[in-house]
Amino acid sequence: MNRQTAFALLLPLMGIGLALLFSGATDPDVAFHGDDAAHMRWRMGELCTEQGVYFTGSGNCVNCHAPDPDGEALVDVDGHTVSPVVDWQATMMANSAKDPFWRAKVSHEGLVNPNHRESIENLCTACHAPQGFHEAHLTGKVGPNGYTMDQLLEDELGLDGIGCTACHGIDDDALAGRSNGDLPINPDNVSWGGFENPWDGLMSGQTGFNPVFGEHMRNSEVCASCHSLYSHTQDLEGEETGQVFFEQTTYLEWVNSAYNAENVQCQSCHMPLVEGGAIAATQPNWLFNQRFGKHHLVGGNAFMLKLMRDQAVALELSATTVQFDSTIARTERSLQTQTAELEVRQLASAMGDWEFEVELRNLAGHKFPSGYPSRIAFIEFELQDPDGNTLFHSGEWTPETGVIGRDETWEPHWETIESEDQVQVYEMVIGDVTGAPTQVLERASVLIKDNRLPPRGFSTNHAAYDTVQFGPMAALDANFNRTAQTGEEGSGSDRMTYRIPNDLNAATVQAHVTLHYLSVPARWVQSMFEWAEDSEEIASFQSMFESADRTPVVVATTTTWAYRGFDQNDPEWRLAPSAIGSGQPLRLIPPGETIPLEVVLVDALGRTVRSVTPDAALRGFDVSDVASGAFFVRVRTESGWRVLKGMKLNSQ
Ligand code: HEC
Ligand code: HEC
Ligand code: HEC
Ligand code: HEC
Ligand code: HEC
Repeated sequence: MNRQTAFALLLPLMGIGLALLFSGATDPDVAFHGDDAAHMRWRMGELCTEQGVYFTGSGNCVNCHAPDPDGEALVDVDGHTVSPVVDWQATMMANSAKDPFWRAKVSHEGLVNPNHRESIENLCTACHAPQGFHEAHLTGKVGPNGYTMDQLLEDELGLDGIGCTACHGIDDDALAGRSNGDLPINPDNVSWGGFENPWDGLMSGQTGFNPVFGEHMRNSEVCASCHSLYSHTQDLEGEETGQVFFEQTTYLEWVNSAYNAENVQCQSCHMPLVEGGAIAATQPNWLFNQRFGKHHLVGGNAFMLKLMRDQAVALELSATTVQFDSTIARTERSLQTQTAELEVRQLASAMGDWEFEVELRNLAGHKFPSGYPSRIAFIEFELQDPDGNTLFHSGEWTPETGVIGRDETWEPHWETIESEDQVQVYEMVIGDVTGAPTQVLERASVLIKDNRLPPRGFSTNHAAYDTVQFGPMAALDANFNRTAQTGEEGSGSDRMTYRIPNDLNAATVQAHVTLHYLSVPARWVQSMFEWAEDSEEIASFQSMFESADRTPVVVATTTTWAYRGFDQNDPEWRLAPSAIGSGQPLRLIPPGETIPLEVVLVDALGRTVRSVTPDAALRGFDVSDVASGAFFVRVRTESGWRVLKGMKLNSQ
């Protein structure tokens, strides 16, 4: 079967789709009885097919960039589809103009500031509905107050979100310095792409848009204009103060990072290349593999993706549940494997106290969290005795309370946490002209707090630092963004101490540490929900929000046993605990910075039980295979072997 006949076979399927539409089937998830492929194609048929002067609907790209029924084009080596339509359709960017949180917030900003409502809407649509916004501006169809929400709701090109042509029409024209959605749109319907010498005949014939190689498509600058949001501060009366506030600076955070110098672009992480490339279109059928960036475009917003998946029919979204599930899984995987590293170690402490150092390292190419200022990450720290009883708990989250211990106004940045009402929250807190925390973009005036973790290589001496600076408390934290060894700047890490008085007499405890991420905390939307009676958009988002699962995403988790009398600065090699019960891990504690080269577990008769990797020996290893009574651990260092004696307690 060649591609043309395969495509012909699809036509009846589309016919079935239409028949279902007209037969009054309201929920396509039900109507297709789980035939996901048919469902997906039917839904793609719902994508915008409007043709503008500067843009064209993403539905007009489906013909050749949707999955190949033959499985030859748009696949990776394993045969999995890398169709840009399939991947893009269920992302936050594809749905940016229908995002119910965004619509509610636009409404909120307009209600707070009624005199500026239309100019606010004209600002918000620039990035969230770029095709509608620029088409209207470039063709002179905007009213005197710009491109407003009323116009958007009637405009299919705008409702297409950040459609294919919104990104592919961006010219290479001073991109790095742009902000607020100020895009240089190509006037001749060029569709820039990432590979050289594309064959343009068929595409320009069918869509009027020419595929042309544009090297700028491989670089971060093409994302800069929409991922840099600067607002003009207004006071509480709505008068402009003349100040510019840097609200979203994801691009500039990346500029001030090691990734910039290492040529790791936004695309490297957010649009990973297919190994070996892929055939870029299903027609014609004689194309060959090209460089191909997958349109995954995932960040951290698993929460809104789930909400939109569950409300897809009400919100008139075209992606299927299966597509949303893929994007959600990618988002969670990215949060759990590519976002941050977490470590905890016991520190020597005064008699009667437990002390731990928690270290967090950012792996993302910008601050973590970055982007929209509602985003927070927080640390949950729980200390348990060997029976699992909780002795101390900071940063617990429940749906009713949110993050327990987080102050009503704003939680300070901590260097040492000593009580359960202190919790480490990584976030940006913005104040209005009076210094009071605000969630209204137009009122942003002062940076009350910004301890979001900087990316690796971030420097306070960088030329762009004033736009991406630390908040006051993080700036005073001597180990923020500094390595433990040399104190050098640019580690992208933070270390903090947890000091807990040992009221209970446990000789051994276990510390569990978890890093959570929350994209839309209930507290952020609270003041907006107070306007629900005045706005349909706010009321409707409130009901969706309240019925959604708001559990934060676990980004990283780690745990350690700890022992009374522990001292990492003891000059002798030691085993901890010195007498070990069953089920507990045994740790080798080196004097100072000495590193063990080899570690061997030996029984009471001097027979080798097994060797242990030095890393496992330092972190804690299992000794359940050693009989009770004495045993030995042999350690080889640069200066030779030494033997340490251990004691295994009777398991009863
Ligand atoms: C410069 C481009 C730009 C402009 C202008 C802009 N936004 Fe956004 N907005 C973004 C980006 C990028 C994100 C996503 C960042 C992230 O995921 O953290 C975002 C996210 C949001 C979110 C969170 C959405 C969610 O689902 O979590 C809301 C709400 C929002 N914007 C409201 C507004 C409002 C209201 C305006 C107008 C006052 C506005 N935006 C103007 C770029 C922009
Ligand atoms: C009739 C089929 C067809 C349609 C419809 C179509 N394309 Fe293409 N597209 C192609 C072909 C063929 C190529 C070149 C593939 C090659 O040379 O290997 C291509 C290549 C591209 C490239 C890569 C250019 C480069 O140099 O990297 C982009 C970007 C692109 N198309 C975007 C779009 C967009 C956006 C739409 C919708 C407006 C669209 N296409 C609709 C057939 C099509
Ligand atoms: C967020 C902006 C953005 C959106 C939206 C977007 N693309 Fe792309 N696309 C890119 C970038 C950037 C590249 C180049 C990636 C690379 O090669 O590193 C690209 C590459 C491509 C390519 C060529 C493969 C390659 O790696 O060069 C095709 C074909 C394509 N896009 C089609 C589409 C279609 C069809 C849509 C809509 C369904 C779409 N794109 C939506 C940014 C976007
Ligand atoms: C080294 C890999 C890497 C690079 C480079 C990178 N990102 Fe990210 N990005 C991530 C990871 C991981 C996340 C998820 C964690 C998070 O939310 O910060 C993310 C999240 C995001 C988010 C959501 C932020 C939030 O917390 O809501 C946006 C928006 C984003 N990236 C845009 C960009 C842009 C634009 C660039 C280029 C200027 C870029 N990224 C470069 C890895 C990267
Ligand atoms: C035309 C404006 C525009 C361009 C260009 C653009 N973005 Fe975005 N991006 C947005 C908006 C708006 C959102 C937020 C949508 C929402 O939440 O409703 C967003 C959200 C994101 C997110 C967060 C998704 C999540 O689930 O948290 C990532 C990641 C991202 N963009 C990456 C990129 C990358 C990489 C590029 C460049 C290849 C890029 N964007 C180009 C406007 C844009």
